[in-house]
Amino acid sequence: MKVAIYPGSFDPITNGHMDIVDRASKVFDKVIVAVLINGGKNPMFDLDERVELVKKSLVNNKKVEVDSFTGLLTDYIKENDVDVIVKGLRAVSDFESEFQMATMNRKLNENAETFFLTTDMKYAHLSSSLVKEVFRLGGDIEEFVSKPVLDAMIDKGVGDE
Ligand code: PNS
Repeated sequence: MKVAIYPGSFDPITNGHMDIVDRASKVFDKVIVAVLINGGKNPMFDLDERVELVKKSLVNNKKVEVDSFTGLLTDYIKENDVDVIVKGLRAVSDFESEFQMATMNRKLNENAETFFLTTDMKYAHLSSSLVKEVFRLGGDIEEFVSKPVLDAMIDKGVGDE
């Protein structure tokens, strides 16, 4: 059984993240979506909310398990027998930092392999921070996030971070 981990802050999970999880679950037997505990300095959603929104958004994907972690990703993968790290690439601009992280992770654990999956072009512009900014400024974000995330953002309200 090949197990992949898809780590991130997921503040909140977007349709772009969900696209990467769908693609990863076609390749791997289990995909652990791992929410970083200290994700961002001023998150819109706290850890429990982010985990809950990931669970609700991916409820139909039976290969997905949702977890959270703190500390080094390489420690998590060692402790949990994870085979590969999955990362999504939206554009060439993502490559530099992702390449650095993949190289550092391999330095920390020589067995830490990173698989890059490219997102559908329709999500190439998407990021959690941009979605939050558009939402705060009154733009329509319905096509960028799942219904549970949209509802949670509306509940939270603009400016309530
Ligand atoms: O969604 P993000 O914030 O872009 O995800 C970044 C994440 C969580 C993948 C990265 O910050 C990470 O792996 N953090 C865990 C701590 C760690 O292992 N740092 C060294 C990475 S080379």
